[in-house]
This record gives sequence, structure tokens and C-alpha cells, in this order.
Amino acid sequence: MMKSDPTKYALVDGVVKNYLEGSPSLWVLEQGLYTSQQRRLLFGVFNLESGARILDAGCGYGICAFDFVGQLDVAVDGVDFDSEKLSVAREIQSQLDSQDYFVKGSELTFTQGSLETLPFEDSRFDFAISSFVFQHLSDPQSCADELYRVTKPGGSVCLIDADDGLSLVYPQVSEAYSKLSDAFDAYQLSNGGDRQVGRKLATYLDGAGFEITSVLVMPVAEYKGSQTDDKGRTFVIERFRQARDSIIEAGLLGPEEFDQCLDLYSKEASMVQFRTNSQLVVIAKRP
Ligand SMILES: C[S@@+](CC[C@H](N)C(=O)[O-])C[C@H]1O[C@@H](n2cnc3c(N)ncnc32)[C@H](O)[C@@H]1O
Repeated sequence: MMKSDPTKYALVDGVVKNYLEGSPSLWVLEQGLYTSQQRRLLFGVFNLESGARILDAGCGYGICAFDFVGQLDVAVDGVDFDSEKLSVAREIQSQLDSQDYFVKGSELTFTQGSLETLPFEDSRFDFAISSFVFQHLSDPQSCADELYRVTKPGGSVCLIDADDGLSLVYPQVSEAYSKLSDAFDAYQLSNGGDRQVGRKLATYLDGAGFEITSVLVMPVAEYKGSQTDDKGRTFVIERFRQARDSIIEAGLLGPEEFDQCLDLYSKEASMVQFRTNSQLVVIAKRP
């Protein structure tokens, strides 16, 4: 079982927080920080050993990858098709390096590439993780097939993602939010993405030839006021803002309506709500 050193987690969190102070619009990075507790709970069940070769598929800013190399002498490859995210990941990597963060003997490499055709040889990895990526894929089955190809026989894979079917909120949200949220979901769907992907992860891995070993749901629930500076709300607003042009271009909302709804939603008075959402986790083994 992977040992866990909380001082290393505190160190990486501090570096990421500091980085975010200078670049507050990196909401995927902020989300990685915000969900770190749940992610780290999972690391205990991965059974990773010293010397393991690990793939972080769709690594984004490298938030999962950093956790591994701060805890264990493993070799991690992070891959993502977004070169800007990889540049940020490399900057954070060098800041961590200057603070002696990495376990001696560990290696971390970020490579640009796509999940559809991973730039790695067959059977390279002992373990692969893909966190909050499958909801964005237009052909998730072929990506699961690729993960199978690069995983060693006996190696394992973990997919983590959301499923809007497991999100509840009461009392209901405002009309401005509903309009933005419906338009965002329709845009993601038209791009091949899927906000109900969580329930399908095991089927994709099974279809690729993996044996499913665990299926988990990690729920988060809260009853609290949604303040204007609420973290969850900030992520949502930033996600909408970044999709603005695509949503308008797709004709899902007009520019005026979009801006008006976002403005209303950003300034909405605090409302106390019960909210729950879940991360769906599937762990599987290549026979
Ligand atoms: C929501 S972010 C998650 C990042 C990271 N795994 C995390 O948990 O913070 C999704 C990432 O998947 C990447 N991505 C989406 N589709 C991809 C594809 N087909 N090939 C490679 N990367 C992809 C995006 O660039 C983005 O960095």
C-alpha cells in the first residue's frame, strides 16, 4: 500500500496555491486543489510499489502526477494534448524541484499527446489514471482501448469522473443558472463530451478487455449558503466564461442573453442550499 506523507501533500498544495495567486483563472488547477482530499483517499487502494511506471492520462496541470512523485520513487508520465497546461505543469514541477519535493529516484515527464493515440509503446505502464478526462472525449471506447494497450498484463487502471445524474440541489437554482447550465451541457454533448459518463466508465474498461476490480462512488454533500466567493461557484462561473464563445457560436444562447445570465448568476444573493455530487471511480486490471 502506498505510504502517505502529509508534509509532502502540504508542500505541493502550498506551491499550487501560490501559483494560483498569480494566475487565478486556472480553474482546473484550482479544482484539483479543492478535490485533493478525495483523490488522496483513493491513493491508498492503488497498491503502488516503488519503481512502478505510472501514466497520468489527460494530466492537465499535473495535479495527480505531482502527488505520486512526492510520495513514492515511481516514474510518472503525464500526457495531455493542451500544450499550455503542460507548460504550467512544468513550471510547477521546477518550483517543486527547488523545494526538494520529489522522492529520490522518482521521475516525472510531461509529454504532449492525445488519449486516442498515446505516444507510448505497448505494455509500458504498471498503473494508469485518468481523472475528469473521459467526460470530454468524443470516442471514449477507443481511449479505453489505448489505455489497455499501454498497460502491462497484471497492471491496473483507474478512471475517475463525474455523473450529473448523481447531482442534487434543493431548493432549486435560479433561472439564469439553469439557462447557462443547459447551454453548457448541450455544448459539451455536441463536442462529443458526456456529463453522464460516470455510469459508463466500467463498460468502457470492460469493453477494452480489463477486469473490473472495484467500482466506487465518492459523494460530497453540503448544506450551506452559496456565497459569491464560494469555490464551487467560482469554478462553475469560470467554466461557463471559458465556453462563452463556443456556446454563442453553436447558437445555444445569444451573446446578450449569455452575458446577462452570467452577470445575474455571479451577483445572485446568497441562498442556503443542500447540494450533493459524486465522483465515480472504477479500478480495473489488465489480465
Ligand atoms: C478537467 S481536465 C482534468 C485534468 C487532470 N486530470 C485533473 O484531474 O486535474 C481534463 C484534461 O483532459 C485533457 N484532454 C481532454 N481530451 C483529451 C484528449 N483526447 N487527449 C489528451 N488530453 C485530453 C484536457 O486538455 C484537460 O487538461
